[in-house]
Amino acid sequence: MGGKRKLWLSMLCLLAAAVQGEDPYLYYTWNVTYGTISPLGVPQQGILINGQFPGPEINSTSNNNIVVNVFNNLDEPFLFTWHGIQHRKNSWQDGTPGTSCPIAPGTNYTYHFQVKDQIGTFFYYPSLGVHRAAGGFGGLRVFSRLLIPVPYADPEDEYWVLMGDWYTKSHNILRKFLDTGRSLGSPQGVLINGKTAKGDGSDEPLYTMIPGKTYKYRICNVGLKDALNFRIQGHSIKLVETEGSHVVQNVYDSLDVHVGQCFTVLVTADKDPKDYYMVASTRFTKYDLTAKALIRYTNSAGPASPELPPSPVGWAWSLNQFRSFRWNLTASAARPNPQGSYHYGQINITRTIKLANSVSRVQGLRYAINAVSHVDPETPLKLAEYYGVADKVFNYNTISDEPPFDLNSITKVPNVINATFRDFIEIIFENHGKTVQSYNLDGYSFFAVAIEPGRWSPEKRKNYNLLDAVSRHTIQVFPKSWAAIMLTFDNAGMWNLRSEHAENRYLGQQLYVSVLSPGRSLRDEYNLPDTQLLCGIVKDMPKPPPYSS
Ligand SMILES: *[C@@H]1O[C@H](CO)[C@@H](O)[C@H](O)[C@H]1NC(C)=O
Ligand SMILES: *[C@@H]1O[C@H](CO)[C@@H](O)[C@H](O)[C@H]1NC(C)=O
Ligand SMILES: *[C@@H]1O[C@H](CO)[C@@H](O)[C@H](O)[C@H]1NC(C)=O
Ligand SMILES: *[C@@H]1O[C@H](CO)[C@@H](O)[C@H](O)[C@H]1NC(C)=O
Ligand SMILES: *[C@@H]1O[C@H](CO)[C@@H](O)[C@H](O)[C@H]1NC(C)=O
Ligand SMILES: *[C@@H]1O[C@H](CO)[C@@H](O)[C@H](O)[C@H]1NC(C)=O
Repeated sequence: MGGKRKLWLSMLCLLAAAVQGEDPYLYYTWNVTYGTISPLGVPQQGILINGQFPGPEINSTSNNNIVVNVFNNLDEPFLFTWHGIQHRKNSWQDGTPGTSCPIAPGTNYTYHFQVKDQIGTFFYYPSLGVHRAAGGFGGLRVFSRLLIPVPYADPEDEYWVLMGDWYTKSHNILRKFLDTGRSLGSPQGVLINGKTAKGDGSDEPLYTMIPGKTYKYRICNVGLKDALNFRIQGHSIKLVETEGSHVVQNVYDSLDVHVGQCFTVLVTADKDPKDYYMVASTRFTKYDLTAKALIRYTNSAGPASPELPPSPVGWAWSLNQFRSFRWNLTASAARPNPQGSYHYGQINITRTIKLANSVSRVQGLRYAINAVSHVDPETPLKLAEYYGVADKVFNYNTISDEPPFDLNSITKVPNVINATFRDFIEIIFENHGKTVQSYNLDGYSFFAVAIEPGRWSPEKRKNYNLLDAVSRHTIQVFPKSWAAIMLTFDNAGMWNLRSEHAENRYLGQQLYVSVLSPGRSLRDEYNLPDTQLLCGIVKDMPKPPPYSS
């Protein structure tokens, strides 16, 4: 090749790189500390990020690289998980005890991950112990790139609604309860963005709305155990997005949001110019706890009515609402999980995994899936697998794809199943118990095809929504009911499937799905990052050869 031509070619490459650009980086430095907070009027120990409770928000646009340098200034190990973010090929950044060594007290660690085409509302939270009971959570928005429109007009502004049940006891006391066979018991209240209005006329508005304008509310249930009903006095809400999928824009009076779920809704300020309460109240509970927050029209001429709209009653209402959620197949926005997005109903199922939850009080309080109660080994599962020493840390497939007849004889071991890379799998969650469940799967969006009362059997498949079920990351299972999800296991990694209820998760109602790329190929999975923390038996082991390209 002639010198001139070479120069010209390399200039062309430079130009292409400049035009294409590398995906932008967003840098954050987060200082995690204890601090006193009094969200229910009682001073208690909170977990703050840069002094904030809830933590700072992350505003990102699809394809952004997010770099978060976390300084752990607590007196115990700490991890963040980025709830609902898929981390394609990169379970290293998922921040669960099965993928990552904890950040030791007094040290820092930097997460580095990229958000993809999951346009919508997400949140992050601390994944160890019951840290989430003390805070450490915050909102994470993923905006669409400018060239890819979303299926609704730009709102005037957007507002977070991070709502959750709340305990006034410290996370350490709550953890001790669980370690000594007690349950968390009932929460003391509900919070919206870390507080609740008093309703005595002294409250400042949380948000204001200009008459005639439309606002986007990003709603997540960041609590520990209670499903919450969200509503705004006098206003209907239009649902536009659920956990990264644009949905058919139905209008509701209220929304049931199960623990770990997120919704984006539009609200138009088209009512009398005054103040209104936004309400979050517990569902399916013997107690009735409510948080409220004031919303003020900018031309408000009066206070909010003290009379709050009632919440719906019973779980059949919630089930019907679930069935009304439909994916908008014609929405032009970018989509997550493009493989099989359009025709998931026509893909042959290669494996059906049935998972039944149970509780036992024989060895203290334990929760289980198919009679195995998960415990986290000191060496993260993913690291053990990568270093080729999985057999020293855990066994694959201690549970089988069918729940055993006896769900009460519980075994306490790491619970890991493996899925064949790219298999299309159906997972049935069976809830034989009396309380509603909420399950999340990391690394994926799944098609939430059905929730029904009773027991599942193969002929129930005819009731699945095989056309426009919503692709999402968290699904509820009502008492004495089942739920079915479908997905292609095309994201290599070690992924946590867990109860979003803190007590159940902490005491074993979770498992990991190991999805290995057969060729150890960089096409399918990233190498162990140089910066990954090492612990347990792999701490001083020589690094395995990297994946090949
Ligand atoms: C984090 O906050 C603590 C308490 O305010 C302070 O002592 C410490 O220097 C901060 N660390 C960093 C890295 O900002
Ligand atoms: C995030 O984006 C929203 C909506 O554009 C904006 O109101 C908010 O100030 C942004 N937050 C930060 C921290 O930049
Ligand atoms: C810890 O923080 C320092 C200073 O910001 C940074 O240079 C270093 O890379 C961080 N270490 C890790 C392991 O993230
Ligand atoms: C779906 O999205 C399209 C395209 O943005 C929009 O025009 C349409 O109104 C949406 N359909 C429903 C039922 O929400
Ligand atoms: C699915 O299974 C049916 C029946 O076993 C078979 O005829 C069909 O070819 C399969 N489809 C695909 C896409 O593999
Ligand atoms: C599970 O993974 C182990 C270790 O890689 C492998 O030996 C086994 O064949 C896998 N089983 C399944 C069902 O994929």
